[in-house]
Amino acid sequence: MSGTICIVDDEPSILNTLSSILEDEGYEVLLAKNGAEALQVIRADPPDLVLLDIWMPEMDGLETLQHVRQEFPRIMVIMMSGHGSVETAVKATKLGAFDYLEKPLDMEKVIILVRNALHQQKLEEENLNLRTQVERHWELVGSSPPMQKLRQQIAAIAPTHSRVLISGENGTGKELVARAIHWQSPRRHRPFVEVNCAAIPETLIEVELFGHERGAFTGAVSQKKGKFDLADGGTLFLDEIGDMSLPTQAKILRVLQEQQFTRVGGVKLVKVNVRIIAASNKNLPQEIEKGAFREDLFYRLNVLPIEVPPLRDRREDIPALTRYFLRVHAEEQGIRQKTISDEALKVLQCHDWPGNVRELKNFVERLVIMVPKPCIDTADVVSLLPGSATPFFNRVTPTEAFESLREARNAFEREYITHRLRENNWNVSKTADDLKIERSHLHRKIKLLNVELRPEP
Ligand SMILES: Nc1ncnc2c1ncn2[C@@H]1O[C@H](COP(=O)(O)OP(=O)(O)OP(=O)(O)O)[C@@H](O)[C@H]1O
Ligand SMILES: [Mg+2]
Repeated sequence: MSGTICIVDDEPSILNTLSSILEDEGYEVLLAKNGAEALQVIRADPPDLVLLDIWMPEMDGLETLQHVRQEFPRIMVIMMSGHGSVETAVKATKLGAFDYLEKPLDMEKVIILVRNALHQQKLEEENLNLRTQVERHWELVGSSPPMQKLRQQIAAIAPTHSRVLISGENGTGKELVARAIHWQSPRRHRPFVEVNCAAIPETLIEVELFGHERGAFTGAVSQKKGKFDLADGGTLFLDEIGDMSLPTQAKILRVLQEQQFTRVGGVKLVKVNVRIIAASNKNLPQEIEKGAFREDLFYRLNVLPIEVPPLRDRREDIPALTRYFLRVHAEEQGIRQKTISDEALKVLQCHDWPGNVRELKNFVERLVIMVPKPCIDTADVVSLLPGSATPFFNRVTPTEAFESLREARNAFEREYITHRLRENNWNVSKTADDLKIERSHLHRKIKLLNVELRPEP
């Protein structure tokens, strides 16, 4: 075990003994005679652990402890109490000290406790690292103006404790936004708990949300915590709230109003500190009009509204998203990352993506699996793109997608010819007839434009 330990005590003999023993164990040691000096030493070169005497003149151990915890939350603190001040030592652990040692010091105990504290610190840090890695999968990709605006909103909303209502079409990234808010909030070290309101049957929702007491019903052999309990100190993400039944809405409303609830079969009121983020792909004001959603609940939830824009309103993000999904897919599968041609990206940009980012993500996965070559090109995209049976000219195509008239015309012709060929089951002569051109002319076009002649996969 290695690490740096700061020993704080006004008795020189203690400083001497402890430092020689801990140095023998392989630790680096810093010394301070009182609280003020300790803070100086710690600020200059933050150690991993502090051994802190409780009773010192001027700034005592408890006060020093509070400063250390506040400024350096990762530093482990072990208190040393003499003079029968065990009560104070207990108070210290409540203030965040790892543990305490009683004087006269038992050196064996000192070494074991120091080792345990540093071990615990290491575990906590590993845990945080792992969580950071996991969170990286929740990266929000895209730098279009709508995404920049979204990021600004997230940054402004995250530090608060207010409720958030996220709306947006299917697959736009609502869950990702909810996670980003949690991750950027002071609650990030506490749980993010998700409830899919659409997926839980009406009869189970109460137990799911509030848990039950032991013996609440046949089979309830022990107490079960509900999602509200599990999210204590963290964030509760109520997904698809537009699909909640009216009775469930009433139950949620009551918790939001009273900030407390009872478990099923219980009488005790449970109080939790939970931040609520809700999401819906339904137009809630419309649902209210239809009588399917409670207006009072809507206003309770809709404190900070966030609208996640559909992908067709931020087509600039499609190339970055596509490359990101190519990379993630390759990493997950442990395979070499495929590339995609600029022209193929432009075809993707022209598509409307009714299923938004999720649809694009699934399509990229399909491309990677279906295209055997290392580089995906236009023909691959055109032949696999879902919904490409809709006429090209009915689509909203951003003018920036093409650099010249020629490029735009080629893209149009390629796709138009592909559609007509597909309609004619890839029969070139018949398609040429339809298009009212010579068969040889169509063949030239097919070659020139790289139209791939192949039946549907
Ligand atoms: N900006 C983005 N960057 C990277 N990945 C994204 C982005 N937006 C969405 N995704 C990915 O697309 C998929 C769908 O996102 P998410 O589940 O957050 O959408 P949603 O709005 O909650 O959809 P639904 O309404 O269907 O529940 C997820 O795999 C998510 O990781
Ligand atoms: Mg979702």
